[in-house]
Amino acid sequence: MKILVTGGAGFIGSHTCVELLEAGHDIVVVDNLVNSSRKAIEAVQGITGRKFPFYEYDLLDKAACKEIFEQNTIDAVIHFAGLKAVGESVEKPLLYYRNNLGSTLNLLELMRDYSVNSIVFSSSATVYGAEASIPYVESMPRGKATSPYGASKQMIEQMLEDQVVAEAGFSAVLLRYFNPIGAHESGEIGEDPNGIPNNLLPYVAQVASGKLEQIGVFGNDYPTRDGTGVRDYIHVTDLARGHVVALEKKAAQPGVHLYNLGAGRGYSVLEVVDAFSTAVGRKLPYKIMPRRAGDLPEYYADPVKAKNELGWQSEYDIGRMCADTWRWQQKHPNGFEEE
Ligand code: NAD
Ligand code: UFG
Repeated sequence: MKILVTGGAGFIGSHTCVELLEAGHDIVVVDNLVNSSRKAIEAVQGITGRKFPFYEYDLLDKAACKEIFEQNTIDAVIHFAGLKAVGESVEKPLLYYRNNLGSTLNLLELMRDYSVNSIVFSSSATVYGAEASIPYVESMPRGKATSPYGASKQMIEQMLEDQVVAEAGFSAVLLRYFNPIGAHESGEIGEDPNGIPNNLLPYVAQVASGKLEQIGVFGNDYPTRDGTGVRDYIHVTDLARGHVVALEKKAAQPGVHLYNLGAGRGYSVLEVVDAFSTAVGRKLPYKIMPRRAGDLPEYYADPVKAKNELGWQSEYDIGRMCADTWRWQQKHPNGFEEE
């Protein structure tokens, strides 16, 4: 298949490009590099030994993106492109709605105009909302969004569901990711946040490398086994492979196909710090801080549907996730910036 990968220079997109190419698919990538680097594209080509077209276009520029559909016969789209910082979305909701919804509308209109009938969308566990019971199961309804970012994911899920009703033959795979971490085993691609990281793993990795002084643990008074927040961390390569199988099994089946992509078990912040300390070979310093606004105590996936219907389950454990993150951090201490 020839797959258009939007946001393919980003963290999850670049790892998925590697897995698609290694599974024998052809890809075309579009990314405006607002949160990524052209070097990720070069690294994907280096890892796989394969070249592919890359368009540095903004999906909000529909006229430019039309060229991609004119110049390539696309069989299916994997849509990663979007802004993803939960806190920033609270401060700049219009930016998030404009970018995430506007991009998706342009993409869906182009898909309609060029008769491309399959899309795989990067959704998030956040669509279950704050009130959902754990583990999260796909049969649960979407809850009340806890941020404009989460609301944008819910709205896009709805748009895709509506498009399935309206367009005969349309297939929409909605993949709800839990907490993707880790890096490609080569250490040549990984998560490259701008500035001080918001998310736990990149923060811990920068403490390990000496760029940051100590880990701040956001709260130790949650009703969890050690009082710190519990999340379902999943290796980004496992996640990427989930996209390949979802596409291969569901792209040609009209309808809405909804799957959690998680490992199905939670780790606390302190357990993650311990696992990373083991990967590094020394205890990493941390300090207990106040809770972060908006954080939930604990959630993880029920991963059974993906296992039964796609034959997919995560393979890599927390030790491997930390070891791969650490390899990437050591090889590229400044991410894709000049070292
Ligand atoms: P990322 O920021 O690394 O990748 C997103 C990519 O989209 C970036 O390369 C960015 O430059 C590009 N982009 C953004 N707006 C664009 C536009 N208008 N036109 C073209 N390109 C644009 O993020 P990621 O972690 O790889 O996440 C990929 C997707 O998965 C996102 O949609 C995100 O919301 C979703 N997701 C991520 C997580 C997570 O924890 N990382 C969890 C759940 C869902
Ligand atoms: N945490 C810390 N210290 C830090 C960063 C995080 O203790 O410096 C804790 C958080 O309180 C939480 C856990 O580590 O308990 C994980 O936090 P992350 O920021 O890494 O991830 P979140 O679970 O908050 O967010 C993720 C994705 C979002 C998505 C959200 C809900 O990054 O895109 O899950 O699905 F919206």
